[in-house]
Amino acid sequence: MPKLGVNIDHVATLRQARQEFEPDPIEAAQIVENAGADSIVAHLREDARHINKKDIENLKKSLRTRFNLEMSMDPAIVKIAIKIKPDQATLVPEKRNELTTEGGLDVIGQFQKIKRVTQELQAKKIEVSLFIDPIKSHIKKTKESGIDIIELHTGKYANAKKKEAQDKELKKITAAAQYAHSLGMTVSAGHGLKYDNVSPIAKISEIEELNIGHSIIARSIFVGLGSAVKEMNHIINH
Ligand code: PXP
Repeated sequence: MPKLGVNIDHVATLRQARQEFEPDPIEAAQIVENAGADSIVAHLREDARHINKKDIENLKKSLRTRFNLEMSMDPAIVKIAIKIKPDQATLVPEKRNELTTEGGLDVIGQFQKIKRVTQELQAKKIEVSLFIDPIKSHIKKTKESGIDIIELHTGKYANAKKKEAQDKELKKITAAAQYAHSLGMTVSAGHGLKYDNVSPIAKISEIEELNIGHSIIARSIFVGLGSAVKEMNHIINH
C-alpha cells in the first residue's frame, strides 16, 4: 500500500486570500498527521504566493512525520532549504505565471544544475527527489545525477478526458515505476490525483508514496480536514 503525503499549500492559499493568520497551515499539518498521513508536503514558491519562509520554519519545528519541501532550484530557495533542512527536498520546475506545477523537470537539459543543487542538499543530509515525467530516459538521467528518489508526474493521467487516453497514461506511469524500481529507486507519484482517479495509481505496486493536495483540501471544506485525509487513505488502502 502506498503511503500518503498531503500537500497543505492550499490552506495557505486561503489564508493569503485575506493576508491574515487563518487558516494556519501548521495547525492543518497537525490535523493531517493525526488523521494518518505519512508526510507533509509544502511548496515554497519563489513568489511565496501561499506557503512562506516562516511556514517552512514552523513546519520543520512542529512536524512529527516527514517534511517534504517542494522547491525550484532558484539559489535563494536552495539557501532557505539548506538552512531549514527538511527531511526531503523535491525539485520541481517553476514558472511565475502557472497556476500549479505544469510538468516534470527537464532532467536532460538541466542535468548539470540538478547535479550541483542535489549535491548541495545531500551534503546537508537532505534527501533529494526529482519530480519528473514518466519517461525512461528521464529516469535513467535522474539516477545518473545521484538521485535515488523520483516523483512521477501524474498530471497527464489526471487531466485525460477520455478513457483510452487515461489508460495510455496509466501504462506509461506503470512502466516508468517498474523501470525506476528495477534501478533500485524509490518511486512516488502525484499531481491531480483525486478521490475518483487515485485507485489505479495506488494499485501500482512499485509506487511507495502518493502526494496529494488540492483534492484533499477542497474536500475538507465539506467534511473537515481529518475526514478528508482518512477518506483518501481508505481509498488508497483498499
Ligand atoms: N507533487 C508535486 C511535485 C506538486 O508540485 C504538487 C502540486 O503542488 C502535488 C504533488 C500535489 O498536486 P495536487 O495539488 O494536484 O494534488
